[in-house]
Amino acid sequence: MNEFNDTYTNTRFDSEPQHHIDTLSAKSSKRRHILGASVSMIGLAALGLPNPALASDTGRAKTVLSLFDNVPLSKLDTITVPKGYSWQVVNAWGDAIQGLQGPVFKQDASNSAADQAVQSGMHHDGMSLFPYPKGSTNSSTALLAINHEYTDDGLLHSDGMANWSAEKVRKSQAAHGVSVQLVQKTNTGWKTQTSTEARRITAYTPIDISGPARGHALMKTAADQDGVRVLGTLNNCGNGETPWGTYLTCEENFNGYFVTDANATATAEEKRYGINSKGFGYRWQEHDARFNTGLHPNEANRFGWIVEIDPYNVNAIPKKRTALGRFKHEGAMVTQAPDGKIVVYMGDDERNEYIYKFVTKNIHDPKQSQRSADILDEGTLYVAKFSKDGKGEWLPLVHGRNGLTAENGFTSQADICIKTRQAADRVGATMMDRPEWLAVHPKTQQVYVTLTNNSRRGTGTQSANKSDGTTTAASANPSVDDANPRKENTMGHIVRWSEFANNPAATLFDWDVFVLAGDRNLADNNKHNSNKGDVFGAPDGLWFDPAGNLWVQTDISTSALGKGDYANMATNMMLVADTETGELKRFLTGPLGCEITGAAMTRDRKTLFINVQHPGESPSERADPSKPKAISSFPDGEKGSRPRSATIAISRDNGGVILS
Ligand code: FEO
Ligand code: CA
Ligand code: CA
Repeated sequence: MNEFNDTYTNTRFDSEPQHHIDTLSAKSSKRRHILGASVSMIGLAALGLPNPALASDTGRAKTVLSLFDNVPLSKLDTITVPKGYSWQVVNAWGDAIQGLQGPVFKQDASNSAADQAVQSGMHHDGMSLFPYPKGSTNSSTALLAINHEYTDDGLLHSDGMANWSAEKVRKSQAAHGVSVQLVQKTNTGWKTQTSTEARRITAYTPIDISGPARGHALMKTAADQDGVRVLGTLNNCGNGETPWGTYLTCEENFNGYFVTDANATATAEEKRYGINSKGFGYRWQEHDARFNTGLHPNEANRFGWIVEIDPYNVNAIPKKRTALGRFKHEGAMVTQAPDGKIVVYMGDDERNEYIYKFVTKNIHDPKQSQRSADILDEGTLYVAKFSKDGKGEWLPLVHGRNGLTAENGFTSQADICIKTRQAADRVGATMMDRPEWLAVHPKTQQVYVTLTNNSRRGTGTQSANKSDGTTTAASANPSVDDANPRKENTMGHIVRWSEFANNPAATLFDWDVFVLAGDRNLADNNKHNSNKGDVFGAPDGLWFDPAGNLWVQTDISTSALGKGDYANMATNMMLVADTETGELKRFLTGPLGCEITGAAMTRDRKTLFINVQHPGESPSERADPSKPKAISSFPDGEKGSRPRSATIAISRDNGGVILS
């Protein structure tokens, strides 16, 4: 979801030293590509992966963008894909995760909380596909792990938010979290099948606290006096997957579920994370005291983490990996350094927040995957600083360094993990235009990040973040800078970088702006798209398929779609980007009021899964969630049916490889 991190901050509906080599500057990326390509050839061969399309015999003469006709900008309440491609619904909110063996979705939303706990949750977001059985490369049977980011309770219950009750809170909590379900390609398309692995992880599923913050005083509550186990995961937005076959789900806007006492003064920590007396209107605290910070002041510290889930083992208790820091996690893009260390790239999606990465202490050996089970508990967390002239640096958030000391309020590494935003403020990281997803090019190792928009960029008087921690991103109106070059950036942009020597674990990097989003048909050239291809705005989801094709998904807020700067864009969309030329071409448009998010592909690259989130969302519904005014009946299409977030499978009509 988009505005939660933007203008509507008080309601649910808001939002070892190295040296640069000059020849590898951001402005001359050609050599990097050559270096990257040679690295990738070795890497791909070692992994046994097919030769990517872009390196095929067709070469540059036939770029991937020439392989499909773009779809037009749409005002249709459906999905549109290029000629020669088809789509189908795999699952939608309320469908049983055990296929035909579970409770059927009722269009009047009269399913109980118990039903919801074994049905797909609401508002699908990031997802990953795990070939089934484990260890196989099966492209027709897989476990699909799907995030369910948030709920619209006006849609979730038959009578919306009227007659608010403990049952309604439980149903809302059950509609949050993650689904794991077995999907299989049949003669009639992809179906959810009954399986022993299918499970729901909800806002009340027991989850272990792991890493530096485990057992810390700030993690202890009345119900968990050791600070080692929390109930639930919340606002699961972006995702990641590890080489050892686990799923990473990212807790984003956790603050909105908590409320402080009306008369209490929020603590500095609560303020820094946006916790206040109003919350986002979920009203959980009325029937679940955990969400009242006056009664349970530490409960909120137990959210805002990356959570690791083993999709293949229904009995494995998920773990919150606190070494990766606590913020409004958007995604967790995993890659591996040449020495075997695991690197996780992460964004904190709020205006003027930061980009992070985590480098493990130990190495991951694919031949001994079981040894990597807790590898994410030890390592170094960094935050990014983008300097002028395309140079960048990763600043370590390590206790005792860079002013992260007891006298400045950080008594241990656990403290830094819990108060990551404050630590990043202090070391002088670069405030970005809402970092959303990150993606690593499978051949060049270049990292791309979507910066979706920032209504507070360059609009105030505060020019810069002071590196002494007295100025925080939460209150900043920073001026434009090289990495965030637009004042009041309504359209968003994509930045990319190459790590020193193409080593993801490096502490220096070279960066450039890949593309500025926008619409060249507008009068204001500050809002033009810089790419040669199709217009687009508010890039959010970002994903490289195994062939090195970059997929960009948009999340223009429903209050802006079709209006003002977005007059030409009535729906959200998905595009393919040519990373060599910077050209983008529209591959898919979604139904009305949706955002397009999530991406996963079968190993044979013949099926692409994406998610359609919050179809039918409209500004009027946002203003009063108790009265959904559906502008969409996607995907069921019956007049008056409730719009449902859904997973979509896209394939070619000739059964071929996508984008080949
Ligand atoms: Fe959940 Fe920043 O999107
Ligand atoms: Ca977004
Ligand atoms: Ca997002």
